[in-house]
Amino acid sequence: MESFWPTKEHWSLQIPLESDHYRMPQLAELGYVVLDDLPFEVPTSEFEPLEYMDWKSGGDTNFAPLASADGELDCRGFWDKGKTDKDALWTSNAEATPTLRNYVDGVGANFGRVRVIKLAPQSRDEAIRSIHRDDNNRFNPDGEGWVVRTWLELTDNPDSYMLLMDNGPDGLPDPETEARVPLHKGSRFVVDTQRLWHVVVHPGDAARYAMITSFESGPTLERWIDGNVLATV
Ligand SMILES: [Fe+2]
Repeated sequence: MESFWPTKEHWSLQIPLESDHYRMPQLAELGYVVLDDLPFEVPTSEFEPLEYMDWKSGGDTNFAPLASADGELDCRGFWDKGKTDKDALWTSNAEATPTLRNYVDGVGANFGRVRVIKLAPQSRDEAIRSIHRDDNNRFNPDGEGWVVRTWLELTDNPDSYMLLMDNGPDGLPDPETEARVPLHKGSRFVVDTQRLWHVVVHPGDAARYAMITSFESGPTLERWIDGNVLATV
């Protein structure tokens, strides 16, 4: 048994699961899809020296915003500015990381917040306390694309993993559905973080870095996923 488990009072249960937004078939069954590893290097000099802000989400975290609602270095939700998590503007940080900026631009889909997250080590017991679902689609007009997230691991953490769980009938995470996406360098995946409970288990002894991007579901993102999906043998 885990030492902590969310209850029905957890704020994530207030976040809608059902809506009329367009959803991609690639995520229909599991809520996530693993892509092949990034086929090129992101130099450490492009993510470690960025301007990080103290912002706690999913553990002891700091975030460097690369794109935000208005281009300011701001970690708050887009909804604080009355905006859906789409149509983001690059921040001053983006100038220092052309590789990541070009990567996001290269997807071609409408993107919202783009951030590099820095996470201090946390055991599974510690991580479970922060398991949650995201409110990615607040203010997203009905019929438009459901906002999902992509992850790109920038540091090499082969013993760390993204813990994902789908919802049980009570709306709480269902342990039977646990999935672990490995977080070695270059690992990347697309996940519906509004549907799946998630948190990173990171037992290492140094901070890990990853880029997280919000993207709008639609044909462009689907083509990008199909062109990068992990080939299973
Ligand atoms: Fe989250």
